[in-house]
Amino acid sequence: MSVRAEIKQQKSANKASLKYDQYFAEHRRRQTDLILAHNPHGGRICILGAGNCMDVDLPRISEVFAEIHLVDIDREALEGAKRRLPATVARKIHLHTPVDVSGANKTLEDWRNFKVTEEVLLEFPARAADEIKARLPGPFDCVVSSCLISQILLTCTRVLGEEHPLLQAGLITLLVAHLRLLAALTKPQRNALWITDVSSSEIAPLPPPGSQVDGAVLLQTLAATNRLFTYLQPNLITDLARQDPQVSASGDFADPPETWLWHNGPHRSFLVYALIFSAGNGPNDSA
Ligand SMILES: C[S@@+](CC[C@H](N)C(=O)[O-])C[C@H]1O[C@@H](n2cnc3c(N)ncnc32)[C@H](O)[C@@H]1O
Repeated sequence: MSVRAEIKQQKSANKASLKYDQYFAEHRRRQTDLILAHNPHGGRICILGAGNCMDVDLPRISEVFAEIHLVDIDREALEGAKRRLPATVARKIHLHTPVDVSGANKTLEDWRNFKVTEEVLLEFPARAADEIKARLPGPFDCVVSSCLISQILLTCTRVLGEEHPLLQAGLITLLVAHLRLLAALTKPQRNALWITDVSSSEIAPLPPPGSQVDGAVLLQTLAATNRLFTYLQPNLITDLARQDPQVSASGDFADPPETWLWHNGPHRSFLVYALIFSAGNGPNDSA
């Protein structure tokens, strides 16, 4: 698949999910509660992959944060989300679109066609994080990656193809780039949230809406039976963050993740987890 077709698909998925707003209610409450619990200082928040903004309760967020920066590749989705807000909330919204938060869309087809060297791949995370950071008015008091990284990995998988020899290296490269971006955008002593879907009702039997679920047990069961999205299990993310010199110099993730179910319509559900990244005092903080 081409990158262009992938972006088109992301945009039509955003359009198609608009009518399912009420299904997002519990997911939205969990995500908003978590953001507010870990960011009592307010200030400026940046939400990456904000799309239709059905993941976050922006009126509640606006009670605490003075500026809300929304970033997505889909301009129409962000503009629609802003239009649906009361004027008092909309005044605090700043849109950054179209921004490719992976930094890879312009290069994925080169990766597929082997027009990439090992050196270029190794340098990618630093370059991509710098490029995207330069397009946003950071650093922020809070950064949220809002069910975005799974889409970034999916785009790479679809463009390269499941059997491509560079796929594994490409996915890890994109994960490191996204971790570096989160670290680079977050002010010292503030928090970022890595929130992602990690399994879906298409690959695992997930409980229906309204069920009481122990997300941690579900996560463990699905991990044991290999039904989590490739490279998105939380322990891999925390390990990558701790092994990467840039990310580990900026802060660390707290374990364990919070988990919950996201029903994004009548037919599909996802298991979601959130990891909290606490930025230290600065790049060389060892505390
Ligand atoms: C699964 S949706 C997340 C739901 C969204 N937060 C909401 O509340 O509607 C993923 C979002 O990531 C965006 N996205 C996918 N790839 C992207 C990229 N490379 N850069 C920026 N945004 C991207 C999509 O346009 C979509 O809005």
